[in-house]
Amino acid sequence: MKHFFPIFTQRPDLIYFDNAATAQKPQAVLDAIQNYYTYSNSNIHRGPNFLAEEATVLYNEARRTVADFIGARESFEVIFTRNATESINLVARSLELMFNPGDTIVLSQLEHHSNIVPWLQLKERRGIQLKYIPVNKEGRLDFDPALLDESVKLVAVTGMSNALGTITNLKPIIEAAHRVGAKVLVDGSQLVVHEPVNVQALDCDFFVFTGHKLYGPTGIGVLYGKKELLESMPPFLGGGDMINEVTEQSFSPAFTRTIRGGHA
Ligand SMILES: Cc1ncc(COP(=O)(O)O)c(C=O)c1O
Repeated sequence: MKHFFPIFTQRPDLIYFDNAATAQKPQAVLDAIQNYYTYSNSNIHRGPNFLAEEATVLYNEARRTVADFIGARESFEVIFTRNATESINLVARSLELMFNPGDTIVLSQLEHHSNIVPWLQLKERRGIQLKYIPVNKEGRLDFDPALLDESVKLVAVTGMSNALGTITNLKPIIEAAHRVGAKVLVDGSQLVVHEPVNVQALDCDFFVFTGHKLYGPTGIGVLYGKKELLESMPPFLGGGDMINEVTEQSFSPAFTRTIRGGHA
């Protein structure tokens, strides 16, 4: 395997054990980046020229590849972000109005800070409470469905611990959450590197991961969301490529209703 990674040719004595933090990049990834910027670089979704069309096709194919990789039904259920952190923040910000004082978000004691801090920030903004699935002596989650009552609106849980490497038994957690009407976000940042994932079989509502641990470049991440949920969420970032029409006083985002001076 080492021969796929040019860094080991350049540094033959290198022993690299920090993959959980970030992985080295294989030649195929370096070539894909180099080839894109050498031969196909253009403005995706926004140019009428042949290069822009080619770049758009490549971009859409990448989205399809990711959708197939995690078993998503539709490629537009895959949203490219900057990393897992941004994917989780996107969900926290976009679902914000779903939470009212007294509502509960359930996390686990195995979470990375990226899957704790956005919810602590939401707690400050919306007056919600956080509860944690405890971890046992073996480093596994000790999940008791009784933790989930009617106040729980979201369960956000890691698929695999970045600290211990233990894998979460996700299915019972997701089923129990859905029984009380809660949505489920899975932080798959470590899991996707080690196990096949099928978001439809899992039936999670959101699934996030980050490119740089999966041999991809730094600065790309994924948010998977079920179509009906994504369609109900207001846009996270405003700017080019997310709009249908802009006037001096209003805009309409692509695919959703007109927004004037605030959330839809
Ligand atoms: C389980 C888990 N979640 C989230 C993250 C955050 O990843 P990023 O910094 O790429 O957003 C990490 C990174 O260490 C992680 O291991």
